Amino acid sequence: MTQAQARILLLVDGAAASLPGMQLLLRLQEAGFSVQVTATEAALAFQPAVSWSAFSGLPCLPLDQLGDEQLKSAELLLAAPISLNLLEELLGSQQWRNALQSNNLPLLAAPAMSPEEAEQSPQFTGQFAALPPGSGLVLPGEQRWDLGALGSIALPSVETCLEEVCNFFTVPDLLGKKLLLTAGATIEDIDPVRFISNRSTGRMGLALARAAARRGASVSLVHGPVADPLPANSRIKPIAVRSAQQMYECSMAELSQVDIAILCAAVADFSPDQYVPQKIKKRGAQELSLLLRRTPDILASMGKLENRPFLVGFAAESDDLELNARLKLQSKQCDMICANDIREPGSGFAVSTNRVSIYSKEGHLTQLPLLSKDKCAEQIIEQVSAHYYAWLKT
Ligand code: C5P
Repeated sequence: MTQAQARILLLVDGAAASLPGMQLLLRLQEAGFSVQVTATEAALAFQPAVSWSAFSGLPCLPLDQLGDEQLKSAELLLAAPISLNLLEELLGSQQWRNALQSNNLPLLAAPAMSPEEAEQSPQFTGQFAALPPGSGLVLPGEQRWDLGALGSIALPSVETCLEEVCNFFTVPDLLGKKLLLTAGATIEDIDPVRFISNRSTGRMGLALARAAARRGASVSLVHGPVADPLPANSRIKPIAVRSAQQMYECSMAELSQVDIAILCAAVADFSPDQYVPQKIKKRGAQELSLLLRRTPDILASMGKLENRPFLVGFAAESDDLELNARLKLQSKQCDMICANDIREPGSGFAVSTNRVSIYSKEGHLTQLPLLSKDKCAEQIIEQVSAHYYAWLKT
């Protein structure tokens, strides 16, 4: 199932609904889901139905007017945020349990809890087991929402809820597979103050790590400095490195048992021959020459290995995209290359979107449209997974 086809029934409840509930609605839509909102009286007191309807594009129904028609047309009931009282009421109600069962509608619930309630979080596990498969709780992490006079509550972040929803709709076809991913820039130190680096933010690499973990893979993420927070996901093991040499050593050390390696990092091609331990002084000099030496090419080194994993490289090109991508595919002996034209607006470094063309060793070409890096990552991992299983059979 693609996200574009999936309809979510979003149940919002309580004072906390207005801000995080609305943010979640918008993020779900951005991710391609169609969302209908049903709200409790308490939620509607803070944000009227007309506002939920306007933003979702579908009529918002008060919870007590919800009928079989809405339950039938949804693939998931997402109660986020929901008060503990209402959650207990729903789970304890035979009528609700029957409605969910007969419509085969799983319930994913993100309860809003006070910090005290969160500490003594009750275990609902048994009650969720009786609901359609996929039902469960999204628990709050450290995040607290400050609701002014209403106090503060612990609530799973919007991103956590979105991640759980995406997990729900994703086929875990990489379950049990080990993936190595390099991401971000590398830093080549000149002296204690200066370094050589590049404009990579690591966003594409982090999105790939999340997309692969969502499909069940365990990911070793060897990364240089990245602009966004690292994913807090038990399936992703971040390994921080600084230089190209360190990235090479850590990636090679991680390689045993790896099924798929995706090398997305913008590795510096050259590094200063000598690190100067004291800050280099000007002392009236008009010139400074630095001798730079080639760094090890991680992708090409892996391509030469006899028992190598399925190998995916990246190519950021400013001209002759296809020709250069295919040359790289050959010279680095990889199985797939994801190429983008860095001169094109919205594609490449330090932007939130990307337009990628995927070339396979067998000559296949998949041209993805301009997409958010998250969506782009999803499509790349889908292609990687399909080509990996075909490669295993050869
Ligand atoms: O040669 P170029 O840098 O364009 O190749 C890009 C691909 O090679 C990317 O997948 C990048 O992560 C990888 N690479 C590498 N080690 C290097 C240079 C590039 O793994 N030293």
